[in-house]
Amino acid sequence: MISRIFEIMNDVKHILVTGGAGYIGSHTVVELYENGYIPVIVDDFRNSHLSVINGLEKITGQKIIYRKLDVCDYKAFEKVFIEFSFVGAIHFAAYKAVGESVQSPLKYYKNNLLALINCLELAEKYHVENIVFSSSCTVYGEPTGVKTVTEESKIQPASSPYGNSKQIGEEIIDDLIKSGSSLKILKLRYFNPVGAHETGLIGELPIGKPTNLLPFVTQTAIGKLDELTVFGNDYNTPDGTCIRDYIHVCDLALAHVKSIEWLENQPNSLSDSINIGTGKGTSVLEIIHTFEKVSESSLNWKFGDRRDGDIEEIYANVDKSWKLLKWKPTKTVKDAIFDAWNWELKLNND
Ligand SMILES: NC(=O)c1ccc[n+]([C@@H]2O[C@H](COP(=O)([O-])OP(=O)(O)OC[C@H]3O[C@@H](n4cnc5c(N)ncnc54)[C@H](O)[C@@H]3O)[C@@H](O)[C@H]2O)c1
Repeated sequence: MISRIFEIMNDVKHILVTGGAGYIGSHTVVELYENGYIPVIVDDFRNSHLSVINGLEKITGQKIIYRKLDVCDYKAFEKVFIEFSFVGAIHFAAYKAVGESVQSPLKYYKNNLLALINCLELAEKYHVENIVFSSSCTVYGEPTGVKTVTEESKIQPASSPYGNSKQIGEEIIDDLIKSGSSLKILKLRYFNPVGAHETGLIGELPIGKPTNLLPFVTQTAIGKLDELTVFGNDYNTPDGTCIRDYIHVCDLALAHVKSIEWLENQPNSLSDSINIGTGKGTSVLEIIHTFEKVSESSLNWKFGDRRDGDIEEIYANVDKSWKLLKWKPTKTVKDAIFDAWNWELKLNND
């Protein structure tokens, strides 16, 4: 109670960041600090390391506030809402590996949906009105015809339980708003986040074998992994490999701050979706070749079979994010590869 009175008197703007120790969450924590907010991380570190907190403290020069708990545990999660008076919440906490979700669908539905429902229920109960939800371009499934998707593009059947958990998550949010809830929710449909903070103090460090391309590339180059497999070389793309819209994680992190700022200025409840990408596509082979140039090394890689749930080619139409949030990405794929490699080298030296 005393801390809540202190917050109100001192105009402290606490933001709840579930999954804030993870890859995108940790970079968002930095941007929140830089823009006058005080993030409160809630994470049980199931897919992140406690050392992230150390890195964040070095970058921000602040004592990072974090609570270690499972957001699927309603009672434990509620204590954080009682402790702090949040002006907004960013809900990252979820599982995210497409391939694993095909093998273990219940694990994905249980965690991704229960975590979201708890977050929404508690946000309503404690009047935390400004919410950002981590959605994904996977909600578009495999686009037919044009590969650039707008927020109005038809939502296709998801190609994996992970993608479906994001589609259902979006529907839950829409139903809640239709029911008369006072929450204001932006569903950010991320394309492919890559890179690391320029200091090399935080970056992508999943537990176990990485499932995203770039950490797999850097961990292979440094010798932690033997070989990179490129899943499929017979896609209908110029070089036969999948094409994605890669966005630097620091650009993506800033988009969350812009979203919270925008939501704070909205008078009425709402649910809206926004693509967060660059609008440009890069193939897996282009990533590998750029990495080899940036790192001045040659990567041990081979072609393998296509992977279940993978989409051939997709990138964002970004008009809405640029117009609504007054935000544009400033970094290139090459910048992201440079920063990811710097992060890997630093990790290895430490
Ligand atoms: N990285 C991507 O390629 C990508 C793309 C699109 C969308 N997303 C979404 O963005 C969000 C963040 O992704 P990320 O790449 O930072 O993932 P991440 O795994 O690095 O971070 C997620 C964090 O949430 C935590 N977490 C998961 N379940 C939890 C629970 N029940 N209780 C407490 N903590 C929990 C994990 O420990 C981890 O620190 C996810 O919702 C993901 O689906 C990610």
